Amino acid sequence: MDPQAKKTALRGITYGLYLIGTKDASTVNAFAGNWLTQTSFDPPLVALAVKAGTRSQEQIKASGVFSVNILASGQKEMATAFFKHVEPEGNRLAGYEFYTTEITGCPIFKDALSYFECKVVEAVERGDHYIYVGEVIGAGVHREGEPLTLRETGFYYGG
Ligand SMILES: Cc1cc2nc3c(=O)[nH]c(=O)nc-3n(C[C@H](O)[C@H](O)[C@H](O)COP(=O)(O)O)c2cc1C
Repeated sequence: MDPQAKKTALRGITYGLYLIGTKDASTVNAFAGNWLTQTSFDPPLVALAVKAGTRSQEQIKASGVFSVNILASGQKEMATAFFKHVEPEGNRLAGYEFYTTEITGCPIFKDALSYFECKVVEAVERGDHYIYVGEVIGAGVHREGEPLTLRETGFYYGG
């Protein structure tokens, strides 16, 4: 295989950029990720790829839940704050206010357009990122707006 062609072709996949909320028994966490897609209407399923060995991956595996926050166009700065390890301070992560519901307990950001909460129903732990298939068991809308796309940010993750 031509490695440059592989990279160019894979970078042709278009993405959003989301804040994925996770938790364990003692704390909550969130990271910015783009490897997310819906895979079923009924039941509503999504597939999320999470870097193996990260705190987020370990928390999703252990807790069996995660949240997905849909950011708005223009929230590149907010997304960028979650490419690195963050620690909660009260009800804030990287300075951004979150809350939790009784559905999963994973962080939901007030500044996000909307969110959904998932319980893991399947895992594919292969490669350098592991796939978690989540059934959507809760959702909410904070406001209307255009979602942030990876293209808008100028970042790449894939190739
Ligand atoms: C543009 C971009 C997209 C990313 N997408 C993903 C992704 O889809 N899945 C993932 O596991 N990490 C992704 N990352 C990396 C995570 O944001 C990063 O590893 C984060 O620090 C993980 O948090 P943690 O160490 O607290 O678990 C992406 C990074 C960038 C710069």
